[in-house]
Amino acid sequence: MPGEDLYSLKPHTSCHKMQSFLFLALLLLLFQLTESSTSPDRFLKPSSPPSIFKPSRKLQEYIELANPLSSDKLNPPSRPCTLHVIKHSFGNTMGKPPFTTAYNPPVNCPSPWSHVVLELRATSRGDQYDRISGLWLGGAEILRTSTAEPTREGIFWKVRKDVTKYDSLLQKKNLRLTMMLENIVNDVYTGVYRVDVFFFFYRAEAVRAPFRTGEIRVLKDEGRLETEMANESPADLIVPISSSDGYKKGFWFVINSESDVHFKEVRFPLNTRKAVLELYVSFHGNDEFWYSNPPNSYIRVNNLTTERGNGAYREVFVTLDGRVVGSEIPFPVVFTGGINPLFWNPVVAIGAFDLPSYDFDLSPVLGLVLDGKPHTIGVGVSDGISFWLVDANLHIWLDGGSSKVIAKSTVYDNPASSITREEEFQMLDGEFHIKAKRETLLVGWVKWSGGNYTTAVSQEFKFHNIMSFEGNGTVKTVNQRVKVKKEVKVTNELGSCPVCHVKIKRRYPMKMISATLPGSKPDTYLAITNVSHAFWERHDDGGGETNVYNKQVSDGWMEVKDHDVLSGGSVTNQKLDCRGGEFGGCFIWKVSAVDGKLVKNDTSSVCTSLYVN
Ligand SMILES: *[C@@H]1O[C@H](CO)[C@@H](O)[C@H](O)[C@H]1NC(C)=O
Ligand SMILES: *[C@@H]1O[C@H](CO)[C@@H](O)[C@H](O)[C@H]1NC(C)=O
Ligand SMILES: *[C@@H]1O[C@H](CO)[C@@H](O)[C@H](O)[C@H]1NC(C)=O
Ligand SMILES: *[C@@H]1O[C@H](CO)[C@@H](O)[C@H](O)[C@H]1NC(C)=O
Ligand SMILES: *[C@@H]1O[C@H](CO)[C@@H](O)[C@H](O)[C@H]1NC(C)=O
Repeated sequence: MPGEDLYSLKPHTSCHKMQSFLFLALLLLLFQLTESSTSPDRFLKPSSPPSIFKPSRKLQEYIELANPLSSDKLNPPSRPCTLHVIKHSFGNTMGKPPFTTAYNPPVNCPSPWSHVVLELRATSRGDQYDRISGLWLGGAEILRTSTAEPTREGIFWKVRKDVTKYDSLLQKKNLRLTMMLENIVNDVYTGVYRVDVFFFFYRAEAVRAPFRTGEIRVLKDEGRLETEMANESPADLIVPISSSDGYKKGFWFVINSESDVHFKEVRFPLNTRKAVLELYVSFHGNDEFWYSNPPNSYIRVNNLTTERGNGAYREVFVTLDGRVVGSEIPFPVVFTGGINPLFWNPVVAIGAFDLPSYDFDLSPVLGLVLDGKPHTIGVGVSDGISFWLVDANLHIWLDGGSSKVIAKSTVYDNPASSITREEEFQMLDGEFHIKAKRETLLVGWVKWSGGNYTTAVSQEFKFHNIMSFEGNGTVKTVNQRVKVKKEVKVTNELGSCPVCHVKIKRRYPMKMISATLPGSKPDTYLAITNVSHAFWERHDDGGGETNVYNKQVSDGWMEVKDHDVLSGGSVTNQKLDCRGGEFGGCFIWKVSAVDGKLVKNDTSSVCTSLYVN
C-alpha cells in the first residue's frame, strides 16, 4: 500500500521470531491480565493511514486457496453463457430483510448444462468487520460465505463454486434468489460491500449430457446403469430445510442452544429412489471459536465473565421424525476478523469464502418415509450456545420409470456419541481433554424400476481436543484433531456393484497457541499467536482416489484496544495439494504472506515431490 512505510505503526522487530514460549511463560508470570484477552475474539484490523500520495487505483485482491473447478478443465475449453443475477451494495443492512431478486434460467442457453458455476465478486473500501453471508435459490442454500475486512485503499475478492448439483432449481423459472449480508455502516464502520453474482452455464459437448431418470428403462445394460449411478447426476428435486421466514430474516435457522432444534415437515414423493441431505453450518457469537471454549467449571471457579463457555465440543445433528440420522463435527472455519485479523490478509482462512457443506445419504431410511405422510426433519447443535446458522437441502432422486417404489430400512445402528471429559486446573492454569467418538450404520433397500438396491451408509468420527492454560491463564494452547470416515456402499440383489462404493476420509487438525501480554498503554494488550490448521480429504469412488491436503500456518502478534487492532505483524504460509481424480494428476498452490503482502503465490500442475500427509 502506498505510504505504508511513512506511516507504518508496525514496530521493526517481529515478535513472531520469538522462539521460546517457556521464556514467555516466565515473563508472563510477572503480569496480570484481564481474562477478556485470553480467548480468541473477533477484531477489526488496523485502519490503513490516509496516504499523502494519490491512492492507488488498484484494489488489493484477497484470496482463498481452492481447487480448480472441473469446468476449468474442459477440453476443448468451452465458453459459458453468463447470467448476471445480483448487482447490489450491502450498506447498513443489519436487521433488515435480505436482498431478493427474480431468477430465471438463461433463455439463449437452455439446459441441459454440463456444469454451472456461481461466481461472487465483492469489493469494499473503509473499515468493516467480517460478515457472514448466505445465498439461497428458491429458499435452498447454494453458498455460505463470509467477507474479508476491507482497507481504506479498497480490496476485492472472488468466490467461485460449482453449483451443478442445484441443476433442478437452476432450470426453474420464476424463482427468487436471496442474499443475506448484514452489515453496520456508520461513522466508524464505513465499509460497504459491493457484490456482483454471476452464473456461468456450460454446455460442453465433450461432456455427457446429464442423465435423466426417464431414460432408465432404455438403460437395459446393468453395467451402464451402475456407472450412471456412480457418476450421479444432480437430484431431480431439492427441498429446502430452511426457515419459512426467509424473505424477511434469511433462510437459515438461528440456533441459540442445544435444545433449540429447528424442524421442517417434508412429504417425500412416493417414487423417491435416493435422498441426500446437504447441511450448511456456521458458528458465531459465543460459539465463533467453539473449539477453544473452556468448560463452565473453569469459568465459574475463576469468576470469569466470559460467555464463551460450554467446553470445546460441538456436534451438528440431523433428525428424521425425532431419530438422529446424521451428525457432523464441523470444520473450524476462522473468519477474517478472527484470532488475529492480520493473519487473513490477503489470504483468508481455509473455507472462509466457501464454507464446506456436509452430506448425509438418507437412502437407507427411505423405508420410513415413503408413505405420503409428512415427516419431520430437524437440525440442532449438541452443546451449542448462541449462535449457529444452520439449514439444509434435501436432494431427492426420483424413479422416472414408476410412480411408486418399495423401500425398507433394515439396520439403524446409531448409538449416541461417547464423550469423555477430563479436567485438572488450579485457578487459571490447567488442562482439559475432551474425547468423543461415534459410529453409525444405516442400511436399507429400495426397489425401483432400475432394480433392487441396498444402500449401506457407515460413518465414524473421532474427536480429541486438548486445551491448556499456563502463566496464570495468559498462555492458552488448543490442540484439536478430528477424523471422519464415511462409506456409502450400494449393492444390487446379487450383492455386487463394484463402482457404487464411495469412501471418504477427512481430517481437520488445528493447533493454536496464544499468549497475552500487557500493551504499551494501560488499556491495550499484546497477543502473540500461532495457528496452524488443515483440511485433508481422501475421496475414493472406486474409479480412483483424490487427495486434497490444504494446510495453513499463521504466526504473528498484535496490539489491541477493545476490538481494534492498533498494530501488529504476521506471516501466513499455506499449501494446497490436490492429487488424482478430476484434477488430472496434480495441482499445487503455495502462498506466503508477510505483513499483508503476498510474497509468494505459485501454482503448479507438476508434482515433483511425493505426496506427504
Ligand atoms: C492471576 O490472575 C488473576 C486475575 O487476573 C489475579 O487476580 C491474580 O493475582 C494472578 N495471580 C498471580 C500469581 O499472578
Ligand atoms: C469468586 O467469587 C467468590 C464469591 O464472591 C469468592 O469467594 C471467590 O474467592 C472468588 N474466586 C476467585 C478465584 O476470585
Ligand atoms: C430387495 O433386496 C433385499 C436385499 O437383497 C431383499 O431382502 C428384499 O426382499 C428385496 N425386496 C424386494 C421387494 O424384492
Ligand atoms: C509458529 O509458526 C511458525 C511458522 O511461521 C512455526 O515455524 C513455529 O514452529 C510455530 N511456533 C510454535 C511455538 O508452534
Ligand atoms: C495468485 O495466484 C492466483 C492463481 O494463479 C491468481 O488467480 C491470483 O490473481 C494471484 N493473486 C495475486 C494477488 O497475485
